[in-house]
Amino acid sequence: MKAPVLVTEAVNPKTLNEFKHSIEFKNVSFNYEDAVILDGINLKIEKGKTVAFVGSSGAGKSTLADLVPRFHDVTSGELLIDGINIKEFSLSSLRHHMGIVTQEPILFNDTIASNIALGDSTANIADIEDAAKIANAHSFIENKEEGYQTNIGDRGSKLSGGERQRLTIARALLKNPPILILDEATSSLDTESERLVQDAINHMMQNRTSIVIAHRLSTIRHADEIIVLQKGKIVERGTHDGLMSQNGYYKKLIEMQEVK
Ligand SMILES: Nc1ncnc2c1ncn2[C@@H]1O[C@H](COP(=O)(O)OP(=O)(O)OP(=O)(O)O)[C@@H](O)[C@H]1O
Ligand SMILES: [Mg+2]
Repeated sequence: MKAPVLVTEAVNPKTLNEFKHSIEFKNVSFNYEDAVILDGINLKIEKGKTVAFVGSSGAGKSTLADLVPRFHDVTSGELLIDGINIKEFSLSSLRHHMGIVTQEPILFNDTIASNIALGDSTANIADIEDAAKIANAHSFIENKEEGYQTNIGDRGSKLSGGERQRLTIARALLKNPPILILDEATSSLDTESERLVQDAINHMMQNRTSIVIAHRLSTIRHADEIIVLQKGKIVERGTHDGLMSQNGYYKKLIEMQEVK
């Protein structure tokens, strides 16, 4: 609680009422102290499109995605939504339009229903169940002795990794945001739960603007643009087919994965 607040709100913040056109990174750089983590990123994500970030561990994918909800702020350059610098919006109105599924699911020592409904006090149990069904979570929840009223323990410790991820997907679905940020949501799962999580993600991505970080080829193959990051810089970009025909770093990453 004593940690300094790194992101501050404008004095008279604007309200982002509706996401209409695009998310744009304009010459964005980001440093942690002296270390350059992102360098000169230019990227425009049009409404309704899916953009994927790929690259080796530590390349800066999560950091880049985390700039959009302002988990940290750009060191230089600008991040615009519908042409307006996101620093001008109130944090709550900015984040209101985003559903975020991160590498580490954030869950609380409370019931399954409350964890899914987090942040939406108006949700009723029917809405919660609908979201859980689309997230492929309903059947495992029904199999618990207390169903939706089951307590999941600290950080969801009484659930498996795949179950935890499907709960956070259900939460994002219930919120029904126009912008989705999915950070490597399937990395720690076995084949069966990965398929369930992947199906849930595919459902969720329909009709939304998505930023997806995934090592899994299946998630990113259909992305409108794939951004390949290396040491904080964009080194290649294009569609899956375009990048494969370039015979570059992306192709190498994909081939390494197929060997696994
Ligand atoms: N709080 C921090 N302080 C200093 N450096 C950090 C901090 N968080 C991340 N980094 C560094 O920033 C770089 C980019 O990290 P980031 O998490 O964006 O990588 P990533 O591409 O998402 O990797 P992965 O595939 O492993 O998730 C890494 O070198 C990391 O060590
Ligand atoms: Mg990451």
